Amino acid sequence: MPQTDPHSYTDPTQGIITSVQLNLDVDFTSKQILGRVELTLSEPSSSGALNLDTRDLDIKSIHTDKGATTWTLSEKDPVMGSCLTINLPDGTQTIDIVYTTSPDASALQWLEPSQTAGGEHPYLFTQCQAIHARSIIPIQDSPSVRFVFAASITVPEDLVVVMAAAPGERVEKMLEQTVTYSFEMPQPVPAYLLAFAVGNITHQDLGPRSRVYTEPEMLEAAAWEFAEIDAMLQTAEDLFGPYRWDRYDFLVMPPSFPYGGMENPRLTFLTPTLLAGDRSQVRVLAHELSHAWTGNLVTNATMEHFWLNEGMTKWGERRILERIIGTENVTLQCALSRRTLERDLERFGPDSPLTRLRTDLAGLDPDEIYSYVPYEKGFLLMKLLEDTAGRGAFDMFMRTYMDTFAFQSLTTEQFLIFLEEHLPGLAEEVGAEEWIYQSGLPANAPTFSSAKLENVERFAKAFVDGVKPSTEEVGNWSAEEILIYLNDIPHQLSHGDCAWIDRAFGLSEIGNAEIKSVWLRKVASSAYIPATPQIGVFLGSVGRMVLIKHIYEAVAETSKEEAERLYALHSKQYHPITQTMIKNILKG
Ligand code: BES
Ligand code: ZN
Repeated sequence: MPQTDPHSYTDPTQGIITSVQLNLDVDFTSKQILGRVELTLSEPSSSGALNLDTRDLDIKSIHTDKGATTWTLSEKDPVMGSCLTINLPDGTQTIDIVYTTSPDASALQWLEPSQTAGGEHPYLFTQCQAIHARSIIPIQDSPSVRFVFAASITVPEDLVVVMAAAPGERVEKMLEQTVTYSFEMPQPVPAYLLAFAVGNITHQDLGPRSRVYTEPEMLEAAAWEFAEIDAMLQTAEDLFGPYRWDRYDFLVMPPSFPYGGMENPRLTFLTPTLLAGDRSQVRVLAHELSHAWTGNLVTNATMEHFWLNEGMTKWGERRILERIIGTENVTLQCALSRRTLERDLERFGPDSPLTRLRTDLAGLDPDEIYSYVPYEKGFLLMKLLEDTAGRGAFDMFMRTYMDTFAFQSLTTEQFLIFLEEHLPGLAEEVGAEEWIYQSGLPANAPTFSSAKLENVERFAKAFVDGVKPSTEEVGNWSAEEILIYLNDIPHQLSHGDCAWIDRAFGLSEIGNAEIKSVWLRKVASSAYIPATPQIGVFLGSVGRMVLIKHIYEAVAETSKEEAERLYALHSKQYHPITQTMIKNILKG
């Protein structure tokens, strides 16, 4: 059985799904979805069997356009789930499957009304990347497989459904007190980009091609924070070529959303922690928008080539941001990310295969090995290629690359072949093989410098000698400068120093959740009692993993019991992926 993706049972020689009709009936009482999918293969099957990925699905019936069929479901693999093998009558092209999802489906989070901003309606959302789509639909859940789809989703009549697809009609069924929303996705997408949300969701238009969706309570703040989306979209098109997904809308999620953002096509999902009230967090929006080219248009063939998605998107994000917040600020972000990367490299160790760009992931759960390596090491390689080739030549290369592989999925090796064809000798000149196939960070990694950066670094160095910037000096520091400063000074501080940084940067009141998170980590490491209550408040109201991870780690370092107490108190709020991550921290 030639399996080409270590995270999928997909066997391309059996046929490839190219079209999906999806009918989902959402039941908030049982926390289950009754699903009926019709899968269409690119051509009639002659192989006799078809493997599909599933996780915790209860298969009720399977029919084909060539009649009845039988199937088997394999033992559940802890990473991959169960392989559904369907015996296909000769010439089968469509397969109809009826099933229910489990209340613990890994792609779904079911929220009680109390876990939403409004507090009155339940909420449901999906997160399918990396390999969770299989818990809501039996599918070839590999990014190497792309399909178009139509969907209809039925929910209680007082709720709204939004989906990463073009919206169609809305039909009410009075008697059953339900409403059905239809959608269509004419561009072929991999399963990990399937996404929808159900709740009390409203919207506001922000431009001819963009609108923000969210709960009414957050609408005004969200519309203000991301008001510049249309300009950003135009900037991105100017850099990367036409936007191929018609609309760019986004959904500001409930607090438990585990990521900063998720690039679901036509409908990016964003954490509400971006609503800082000062537009200081548009970075994440630029990142998800950039995925419309790098990731959604040209997709990594498997998670072993994840850097093609995320490293390239970091590059795209920063090219967009240069035009919006200026090069100086982008340099600061690069310098900050370089620190994050170095921490991850250290955490994995110098010879870890997980610090290669091209990874071997057989048997490994993508959620458990998630790190900034594919992002920031990938970005540094992209930057090095750009600097070496020259911006003009590299931009032209990237445009050709995205045009050539539009709506396709590819491997690192295919990228390298294409690079050699179009910019011969460049890979060799920068030592791309070492970058891609070796652990750690090569010596020729780009470095960053700027006047602001040096200023902040100087102050951070002087901190240990008791030299501190004045209130006026600190007064006009950007979020990035504050983050670099806080990063570079020790985490464990005297109570006097804690009180000083709190006052100097207004940390106890700050709206920027990233800064707040770094502050609370220091509060925990320093056992700074006056601000300790803020830790509980933050951990109870934020579910974005990167923001709470370090706080749990810092609390656990001083008191495992306290960390366990906090987790017991707040775990119900967290997304299943977040719960697993924190449980791993508490296990040590
Ligand atoms: N696609 C990722 C999120 C993701 C990756 C989810 C892997 C599941 C598995 C998204 O585009 C992303 O990178 N989000 C970042 C944004 C940041 C780098 C600006 C995040 O959530 O932190
Ligand atoms: Zn990303």
